[in-house]
Amino acid sequence: MRRKKLVVGNWKMNGRIAQNEALLRDILTGVKDLKKADYVACVPYPYLAQAQQLLQGTNLAWGAQNLCADENVALTGSVSPYMLTDYGCSYVIVGHSERRIQFHETDDTAASRFNSAQSAGLTPIFCMGESHDERDSDWTEYIVGRQLDSIIRRFDVSVLSHAVLAYEPLWAVGTDNPATPTQAQEVHEFMRARIARCDKEVAKKVRILYGGSIQPKNAAALFAMPDVDGGLVGRASLNAAQFVEICKQANE
Ligand code: 13P
Repeated sequence: MRRKKLVVGNWKMNGRIAQNEALLRDILTGVKDLKKADYVACVPYPYLAQAQQLLQGTNLAWGAQNLCADENVALTGSVSPYMLTDYGCSYVIVGHSERRIQFHETDDTAASRFNSAQSAGLTPIFCMGESHDERDSDWTEYIVGRQLDSIIRRFDVSVLSHAVLAYEPLWAVGTDNPATPTQAQEVHEFMRARIARCDKEVAKKVRILYGGSIQPKNAAALFAMPDVDGGLVGRASLNAAQFVEICKQANE
């Protein structure tokens, strides 16, 4: 099965209302004629309305970077799934390592967010990955397997048909040390095989993105790997020319 590639920009805590418009318009100009892949910008919450206004009806979808699992409860500062759909979001990042580490998210809370996102009609982009020390100790498959199982065991493997997975090794995120295409392929293949043990059709269908120091110069080689279905892009998504170039590589 040929899976359509997907490139997602994760702006993290960057952007200002005055600059976002030029960035989004320049990205749109660059991707509007690219038909063979899907493209998304995950912007900070305050800019969702701006993204909706600029991107509605285009081939650049938008989404958020996190959500709360609950609706209409006393949780100061939290944002619920339906607040995101109110602003036309299609996607939401769940379980990013920055949130797992700095905001103490666990496999369990990330799984709850995943489920709430799907219940509201959002497509979760579920992030997994090992640290530098874990890779050195040869624990990569144990960590990534555990993170994947947190979804499969709690719900059912079928939920992955309406989700996107992202392998984001912590040692590659925000560094200039991307995984090599071979390293990424090994882990993506492991994930897909683990899903296939439960359901071969779901395994064939689910898109697994790579994230961690993707740049125009390394995107093509990563995307050429059979189990790499696109990218989750941090810093390079803040530069229209770089992001568009990565989108073009996915469109090949
Ligand atoms: P960088 O592309 O800046 O390494 O960030 C990757 C990432 O965390 C995307 O979610």
